[in-house]
Amino acid sequence: MALKTLKDIDVAGKRVLMRADFNVPIKDGSITDDTRIRAALPTIEKILAAEGASLILMSHLGRPKGERKPEFTLAPVAARLGDLLGRTVAMAPDCVGPEVSDRAKSLKGGDVLLLENVRFHGAETQNDPGFAEQLASLGDVFVNDAFGTAHRAHASTEGVTRHLPSCAGLLIEKEIAFFEPVLKSPDKPMVAVIGGAKVSSKIAVLESLLPNCAAMIIGGGMAYTFLKVKGHGIGKSLVEPDYEETARNFLAAAADKSVDIILPEDHLGASEFSEEAPPVAIDTVDVPEDLMGLDIGPRTTARCLEAIGTAQTIVWNGPMGVFEFSKFAEGTRAVAEAIAGSGATTVVGGGDSVAAANSFGLAHKMSHVSTGGGASLEFLEGKELPGIVALMEE
Ligand code: 3PG
Repeated sequence: MALKTLKDIDVAGKRVLMRADFNVPIKDGSITDDTRIRAALPTIEKILAAEGASLILMSHLGRPKGERKPEFTLAPVAARLGDLLGRTVAMAPDCVGPEVSDRAKSLKGGDVLLLENVRFHGAETQNDPGFAEQLASLGDVFVNDAFGTAHRAHASTEGVTRHLPSCAGLLIEKEIAFFEPVLKSPDKPMVAVIGGAKVSSKIAVLESLLPNCAAMIIGGGMAYTFLKVKGHGIGKSLVEPDYEETARNFLAAAADKSVDIILPEDHLGASEFSEEAPPVAIDTVDVPEDLMGLDIGPRTTARCLEAIGTAQTIVWNGPMGVFEFSKFAEGTRAVAEAIAGSGATTVVGGGDSVAAANSFGLAHKMSHVSTGGGASLEFLEGKELPGIVALMEE
């Protein structure tokens, strides 16, 4: 099954209904990070370059749960997009209804209309067929470029594809082009750098990447459940007792496949989970009873850098420590710098590692930084994303 792309659909002279993921952070009415808007520009510009094509954009913002809440209006996005495109982006009062329908019908070639938040209607997340049909009635063709929302089978991602000729935009194509090889046929050796707080939220990624990895670096809070089942003292560090069996089985599977699992060998710890807590260097694998590990130590960092240096492909998902606390950010920073400078194909997925790459000013040095949080996680887990499945050739 092949993905339908903009090469398969002639958009000239058409009203193009496009789903983007404009779910951007907004503080006091101002957009604080417009990465997702910029990521949609290549597709938007390609469509607008087609003779006579007009564009009807739709997206969600936040989780207003079917209510019209002013703090979730997409109006700031229309303004920013207009600035970036250098043309007017008109804002519709809603995403369905007679007025929106009239506005869509009166669009001329080159016009851009942004619909109001699709999640102001509960029917969106319910993937209500009637609502999907109303959305679809606004355009002649449908282009989905919302990779960040591809794991949701909602009316504006999946439902509309049942009513209109549909294809993926350039961003979805690009995300797949980087993620798919990681799962199927990476340039080897591949090293996975997986961190974050919980084994429970990352175990499916670990298991799905294991067969293609030469080495796996496991950092962050999740590492301590693994250290515990290996018989180490973890002090007051994060642990998921319900996942000890899972962690044990995973380590056995990795040993079976001769995959090198790199866990913390030393730590930077503290007596409590607090930004103010004075950092304590812990030079042993075992964490003393009164401390918790909040970052990897220098020996672990050196070991990580050595593994990263051997890789042709690196996939990074999740920080090595509590990088949001500046005193505990060094391990994540050193690993991120090594990934960025490695010369390997580097794929960064997941909200936290993207935030870390951005905060260290390293995102532009990575081969690919995903615009998906949950979507990239599910992709790496090997799950089918309904928004993408709906764009496959029959
Ligand atoms: C995201 O930010 O991960 C996407 O926009 C999806 O948002 P959601 O988790 O509210 O569906």
